[in-house]
Amino acid sequence: MWVTDTTGDKPARAIETALQKLGTDYLDLYLLHMPFGDTFNAWRAMEAAYKAGKIRAIGVSSFMPDLYTNFRIFNDVQPAVNQMEINPLDQQGAVVDFYRQQNVQPEAFSPLAEGLHDIFNNPVLTKIAQSHGKTTGQVMLRWLTQQGIVAIPKSVHKARIIENFNSQDFDLTADEMAAVKQLDLGKGLLWSPRNPTDIESICGSGRPDSLK
Ligand SMILES: NC(=O)c1ccc[n+]([C@@H]2O[C@H](COP(=O)([O-])OP(=O)(O)OC[C@H]3O[C@@H](n4cnc5c(N)ncnc54)[C@H](OP(=O)(O)O)[C@@H]3O)[C@@H](O)[C@H]2O)c1
Repeated sequence: MWVTDTTGDKPARAIETALQKLGTDYLDLYLLHMPFGDTFNAWRAMEAAYKAGKIRAIGVSSFMPDLYTNFRIFNDVQPAVNQMEINPLDQQGAVVDFYRQQNVQPEAFSPLAEGLHDIFNNPVLTKIAQSHGKTTGQVMLRWLTQQGIVAIPKSVHKARIIENFNSQDFDLTADEMAAVKQLDLGKGLLWSPRNPTDIESICGSGRPDSLK
């Protein structure tokens, strides 16, 4: 659900629109796109659709543990998933551990770091890839799923989509997992849900009329 759809009676309509566009009478999973906007109002509509059987599971995106805890306490249905940036350069180890303990499935967006920092040619990943006869992209995806993190890579190329699917038939060794751990830059590559300038940029155009 877009930030712009979180206010007033828009959330219920957004869910119906998604169902119509997909030509289905239920969704497996529906997420809040951002931890911004009227997230509580949006969640009430998502909870109602969940209880009505229109959505099998509901979740959030880019919620940090402090905000999530407040959200969980004051809502009825606990999020099933938190989708957040996780890749070898932004590993979010403590945050991932927190969500595991909360029984919330961590899901990685930008699992290939969007190719930033020349990651597909990273020497550590290249060495691991060569030792398994795999590509660096496949190493990044297996590194995630081996930790129980769902990965949703994006490609517009059929060959890469197939390559990305074929990333689950090998295991990184403990030494290789430790080597990837050293690549962590400890910060988001694209934006931060805690950076006021980023929040202004994401939400600025989405302000409800009453707040303009
Ligand atoms: N919740 C959120 O706020 C949020 C934010 C960002 C993204 N997402 C979700 O996460 C998904 C993936 O994230 P993302 O698109 O940001 O980044 P990503 O999957 O980490 O990287 C996508 C980039 O990698 C390239 N690529 C993909 N597979 C490759 C391969 N095997 N070899 C070489 N290059 C490859 C793609 O190029 P080509 O397409 O040209 O192959 C594209 O430039 C998105 O589709 C979106 O649904 C969610």
